[in-house]
Amino acid sequence: MQTINRLNPLRDAVTALRRDGPVALVPTMGALHDGHLSLVREAKRRAAHVVVSIFVNPRQFGAGEDLAAYPRQLARDSELLASEDVSLIWAPGVEEMYPPGYATNISVAGISDGLCGANRPGHFDGVATVVCKLFHQVLPDLALFGEKDWQQLAVIRRMARDLDLTQPRADAIHGVPTVREADGLALSSRNAYLTADERERAGALPQAMRTAIAQIRAGGAVADSLAELQRSLTAAGFTAVDYAELREADSLALLDGLGGLPARLFVAARIGRARLIDNMPV
Ligand code: PAF
Repeated sequence: MQTINRLNPLRDAVTALRRDGPVALVPTMGALHDGHLSLVREAKRRAAHVVVSIFVNPRQFGAGEDLAAYPRQLARDSELLASEDVSLIWAPGVEEMYPPGYATNISVAGISDGLCGANRPGHFDGVATVVCKLFHQVLPDLALFGEKDWQQLAVIRRMARDLDLTQPRADAIHGVPTVREADGLALSSRNAYLTADERERAGALPQAMRTAIAQIRAGGAVADSLAELQRSLTAAGFTAVDYAELREADSLALLDGLGGLPARLFVAARIGRARLIDNMPV
């Protein structure tokens, strides 16, 4: 496994890998957990070589967010990836990604606006910009992203379609199901911010979501189920619920009831220092 942090050697290395067959990219910000490893394993099933990028992208953090505190553990991440038979880690520094004078921003209108986009202004511009750059740097045949960040996946697919990307094409951008702890909590690098007590309370999030989903499926009023979900989270010790919304799975249009199209429940809530997000099919 090679670790590369300069663009020219990266290009040479990926060109060599591509001689063996398709190359998959798994973009990450490091602090890897089993959710990331499930992306790597799925990538390995689909491609001859897996490239994992590790880059904590300053452009997707807002003022006052956790950019400085975000866990950085390249040595541990490298050990994990070596044991998963990853071919290459692309770990550029901030200056390599955004050299002095860098001025370009990619903004995907509409789909970026609600949910996390409403609570974290500019976040999805930062994500779209860095992912577009990662795609151009690595030129992968396919790329994999976790479904836990469902809106992020939708934004990236929209960008790939709109910009006619070919490496990868929009239909080669794959979502991989969320990996959960035994109590249902979705794995996230930000779970590391939770104290033992907060971690125990955080299990209320998937539990409250499952209850709301059962109520909505049984024909209950969506607004009532979402209000009850918010009350359960507050009772469990969450300090704020940024959103709890039912949305159409592809367009992310807001729904107030189940129609013919696939729907998902999306929640973001804060406990201690952590802002946890989750989504589930309804
Ligand atoms: O999901 C993440 O870890 C990041 O948003 C991504 C896709 C690596 C872009 O920085």
